[in-house]
Amino acid sequence: MTTPAGASADGTSLARTPAGSAGSSFRGDPAFRAGPPSAAAGEPVIEVTALRKTYRAGRRRKVTTVQAVRGVDFTVRRGEIFGFLGPNGAGKTTTLRMLATLIRPDGGQATIAGADLLRAPGLVRERIGFVAQTSGTYDRATALQELILQARMYGMAKGQAGERAAAVTSAFQLSDYANRQVVTYSGGQRRRLDIALGVIHSPQIIFLDEPTAGLDPPSRARLWEEVRRLRGEGMTIFLTTHYLDEADALCDRVSIIDAGLIVAEGTPADLKREISGEVVLVDLTPPGAAGVADPAVTAAASRVLGELDFVHGCEVSDGTLRLHVDVGAAAIPLIMHALIDCGIEPGAIETRRPSLDDVFLAKTGRSLEE
Ligand SMILES: Nc1ncnc2c1ncn2[C@@H]1O[C@H](COP(=O)(O)OP(=O)(O)O)[C@@H](O)[C@H]1O
Ligand SMILES: [Mg+2]
Repeated sequence: MTTPAGASADGTSLARTPAGSAGSSFRGDPAFRAGPPSAAAGEPVIEVTALRKTYRAGRRRKVTTVQAVRGVDFTVRRGEIFGFLGPNGAGKTTTLRMLATLIRPDGGQATIAGADLLRAPGLVRERIGFVAQTSGTYDRATALQELILQARMYGMAKGQAGERAAAVTSAFQLSDYANRQVVTYSGGQRRRLDIALGVIHSPQIIFLDEPTAGLDPPSRARLWEEVRRLRGEGMTIFLTTHYLDEADALCDRVSIIDAGLIVAEGTPADLKREISGEVVLVDLTPPGAAGVADPAVTAAASRVLGELDFVHGCEVSDGTLRLHVDVGAAAIPLIMHALIDCGIEPGAIETRRPSLDDVFLAKTGRSLEE
């Protein structure tokens, strides 16, 4: 891993990204004296302990507080794609903004790329890149202008900034439109430029907030490839997502966050294995009912099936029952019998392996997909 190209020795480099909005000197910081951490694969590069944040809004007696992050612990290892998976409002952006030094935590600690988040925020900013969910590029500027400006703000000399901008443009396959105004870009192209801007100073870690939100499937796939390429170059990627398939397909490890607390952590495969057995889905929408199930029928079916001793869990969503069983094939005929015995005729019944949503459901009692 290279040291940040534009990082000045005293930590005063400035970037136009919010992450670089301030800087100060940290010569006394032990992490600074020790130099950049060694590049041994798999060592912890982000270590977070009891991090929390409460927002206060309103004035005087009308003050309301939101406990956005209520004490989270996790470790991210060098060279991995680490995902923060959770529904809207879970506290993903708040955590990311704390780690990127954009907002101050109310409590807890974090070490990021060898620098202490609270004592050496300038050093943290040099060693990370941050890409917010909404693009910060100017519509009228070209990609190349934006990249050069960003490189200059990280302290690179003119020639070096031009070279680095050209290299990043080519790596992200933006060369064909690098001299076009950003306003003409597609959503996917713009996201690629955002990430290119985030890595212009060759950070050790890149933080991506919902990098593929709102993109069409081909653009999402394209962006996943960019993220994997960065990992291939030795970068550590910390991303947030509310997409189950993204966490499953892209991330080496995930933390699932809900209402400001981490409810599960591990590789997607391990998390799914924790949910032993199989899931049986029973569709209770009558034929021709345009996807609407009778709530009374759903409730009755849920009660009857939930009482069967081989059913370990039973949830209802959108007229479909989701049952946790050991062996789906053995359970299906028994489920059919139980329903028909009480006068309910089920629609399609299918069995599948547990998904990350089943993990979320098991931990929170709710589905992430709703
Ligand atoms: N600046 C703010 N002031 C007050 N409440 C906020 C602010 N930013 C976020 N929140 C609240 O904090 C909670 C977590 O938000 P956020 O971290 O943005 O979640 P996520 O990124 O997972 O959707 C939500 O309830 C949100 O409404
Ligand atoms: Mg968010």
